[in-house]
Amino acid sequence: MDLIFATNNINKINEIRQIIPAGFNLITLHEAGIKIDIPEPHDTFQENASEKSQTIYKLTGKSCFSEDTGLEVDALDGAPGVISARFAKEDEGYSGNNDKLLKLLGHNPNRHARFRTVISLILEGEEYFFEGKCEGTILMRPKGSNGFGYDPVFVPDGSEKSFGEMSMEEKKTFSHRRKAMDLLIAFLQKRS
Ligand code: IMP
Repeated sequence: MDLIFATNNINKINEIRQIIPAGFNLITLHEAGIKIDIPEPHDTFQENASEKSQTIYKLTGKSCFSEDTGLEVDALDGAPGVISARFAKEDEGYSGNNDKLLKLLGHNPNRHARFRTVISLILEGEEYFFEGKCEGTILMRPKGSNGFGYDPVFVPDGSEKSFGEMSMEEKKTFSHRRKAMDLLIAFLQKRS
């Protein structure tokens, strides 16, 4: 089965390739010849995920999915949430986002946070949603240089290591993205 993955984020593509089983042919936007930067203007992960998959479905008419992910920090009332990608200034990248997060949290002992992923799948014109969460803790300073985004500052519950210290295989055990993908895959396998 062919499925277009509506993202330009190479880290997400690599993670999904590790998760998706044989029998599914993942097609990236690049491979589909689509050059587009889809905005994420909404207040919820669901609406942003939907915006991305609907945009690609309208362009191609083919089955596709997208995901929107963010980090929700309890002591910051759920921030950065849907603005996780652009928490700090745009040109400050991942390390700017992490610096801002650690500065805002300071020495606050409440460091509980979660990653949340919402996937929008469009199959034969119908839209379906799948969600995955990973609960954990924000470190006092970054650890490890694997992964991307907030991985170096986040330790998932049940681990001593940050995502930044894990291989992609280890991250998969805990990952919000993998949990959402498991639901999507089970849904597709049930239908076939
Ligand atoms: P988006 O889903 O492309 O809007 O991603 C939002 C931002 O959340 C990204 O730019 C990353 O900073 C962060 N992010 C998304 N997924 C992960 C992850 O698995 N680990 C760490 N950071 C992530």
